[in-house]
Amino acid sequence: MKLALDRILQSQGFGSRKGCRELIADGEVAINGELATDYRTVFETDGMLITLFGEEDWPYRERLYVALNKPSNYECSRKPSHHPGILTLLPDPLIERDIQPVGRLDHDTTGLLLLSDDGAFIHAQSHPRHHQPKTYLATVAEAATEKLVQHLRDGVQLHDEPAPIAALSARLVDEFHIEMVLDQGKYHQVKRMLAAAGNHCAALTRVAIGGLTLASLDLAEGEWRYLTDEHIAALNREPDLSA
Ligand code: URA
Repeated sequence: MKLALDRILQSQGFGSRKGCRELIADGEVAINGELATDYRTVFETDGMLITLFGEEDWPYRERLYVALNKPSNYECSRKPSHHPGILTLLPDPLIERDIQPVGRLDHDTTGLLLLSDDGAFIHAQSHPRHHQPKTYLATVAEAATEKLVQHLRDGVQLHDEPAPIAALSARLVDEFHIEMVLDQGKYHQVKRMLAAAGNHCAALTRVAIGGLTLASLDLAEGEWRYLTDEHIAALNREPDLSA
């Protein structure tokens, strides 16, 4: 796409058109390694590299697709009440572009959270009809048994549900860890299923969405990264249950 530089900078979350023109006038913007001096200059956005303040490189991105390794004690809500919001872990231009979490994790759940500013992507990933499988690693308070994981696979009755709800898969990793794959996203679903099966969830991490694993992203807690095309393709694959 070909656009004038002030519009490009605005689209990338660097402020208002006026603010972006000021950045250019102040000599703070280089495009593909060359200082930009005129906000009216038209550039091809494909493959464009924006450098701000001589140090920050921002490749042009039409849409944002981000993975965050969510730490505990952060809220996914846009208006968090008791803990900081997850958006505080992202740089300002991403927030300026109105990036949104794809679904929610509880404040005390850690692990893989996707964020995007692409409404169609958010809808496809989060709508219950799409049944995107999500893999969780739960630490349980009481030693778990094969009988418990069988119960989770067969289905457990939750209070406000008309019929029992089953995990797509559930397996004992060790005595105190259960891996569960769910293809629904009901409120507190893992915790409620474990409670209904007679145990208690002491800690919870989301380790994969579709075939995209947290491990493959190499993110420490609190870190984020842009998703590559391969990562996005992995989201549409089945989870790998062979481990
Ligand atoms: N299930 C839960 O109980 N909590 C989460 O955060 C995600 C799934």
